[in-house]
Amino acid sequence: MAIGKLNLSSSPEAGHSDGIWLLVISAKRAMKRLYSIQGKWSRMLSVLTRRYFADSFAECLQIYGANVTQLKAPIGERPSLAQIEEALKAKSYKLITITHVDTSTGVLSDVKAIGELVQRVSPDTLVIVDGVCSVGCEEINFTEWGLDVVLTASQKALGVPPGLSLLLVSPRAIKIFQERKGPETSYFASWRKWLPIMQAYESRKPMYFATPPVQLIYALNTSLKQILQRPLTDRFAAHKKASKMVKDYIEKLGLKTLPTSRAESANGMTAVWVPNGVKLADLLPKIASKQVVFAGGLHKEIASISHLLIALANFSAKYFRIGHMGVSVTDAERNDLQKALDALKTGLSEVGWSQH
Ligand SMILES: Cc1ncc(COP(=O)(O)O)c(C=O)c1O
Repeated sequence: MAIGKLNLSSSPEAGHSDGIWLLVISAKRAMKRLYSIQGKWSRMLSVLTRRYFADSFAECLQIYGANVTQLKAPIGERPSLAQIEEALKAKSYKLITITHVDTSTGVLSDVKAIGELVQRVSPDTLVIVDGVCSVGCEEINFTEWGLDVVLTASQKALGVPPGLSLLLVSPRAIKIFQERKGPETSYFASWRKWLPIMQAYESRKPMYFATPPVQLIYALNTSLKQILQRPLTDRFAAHKKASKMVKDYIEKLGLKTLPTSRAESANGMTAVWVPNGVKLADLLPKIASKQVVFAGGLHKEIASISHLLIALANFSAKYFRIGHMGVSVTDAERNDLQKALDALKTGLSEVGWSQH
């Protein structure tokens, strides 16, 4: 099994050895688990709000009693470092949460710069990263960037069916957790229950708390082996190249992406505004008829239904999302991206849209 060997970084020395992997089910349970670190009434700063997933992260922690401050930025943008610095200086925060890539808008956070900022102005604040849409397609240097938790899920760039979530936790976060005095707030998602299991796993000893979804763990193992066959630097470079190709093509077609700048755009997905005069309800079926599936928009201010599965068919949204991560990017022979972009172009002309 390779679970304990996943290295998120492109520099081999900055990877797994500094953190412990925990395994649970569904990314939202991983979010909930964060609450294990501090217990009730933690003060938190949540960066990258007005995004579906950043908001749901904040909501999840609020439910467990966290006092959350959210930073605002317009759709397609992210809060500036100056805004974050100001917030960190205004109050003392136990945690800062960052949604690395917000899957609803395709906006990319500068986790490295935020990590450095936190180390400079508020070093006791734990840095928590939602890497669901970034692990496996965006570079993350866990130790160098001063991160305390990176949580992710199996279903995106790791290329495994949904159902698993993974957390990489720093020694200092584990220590804070172990010194925590408050009562347990969860049973199944308890770090206290799962840590001994992961430690037993690392030392190849059997131990039981709950039956893991072994089929997913085997799938994860296969995927990680494939991912690690090539240097991670190559993988990240391939995602950047593919992202540039998609975004250049979108611009050439005369369409606009939600993120307002390339520097703030994710490399594993692109969110695109539906052009004037076109209905997504007409366009997506045309594209689907060419065996290409794009997801409808998910952001609640610009999509009317706020649930991912429904959003896949959310025809009333004002934008749609193209995934370009994992095998579609790393296996050029599949030609997936070009096929998808061709389907978009043909679909647009079939619904009567033409570039002026
Ligand atoms: C960035 C991000 N965070 C959190 C989640 C929630 O994950 P799950 O649906 O597995 O609970 C998702 C969903 O895909 C996501 O894209």
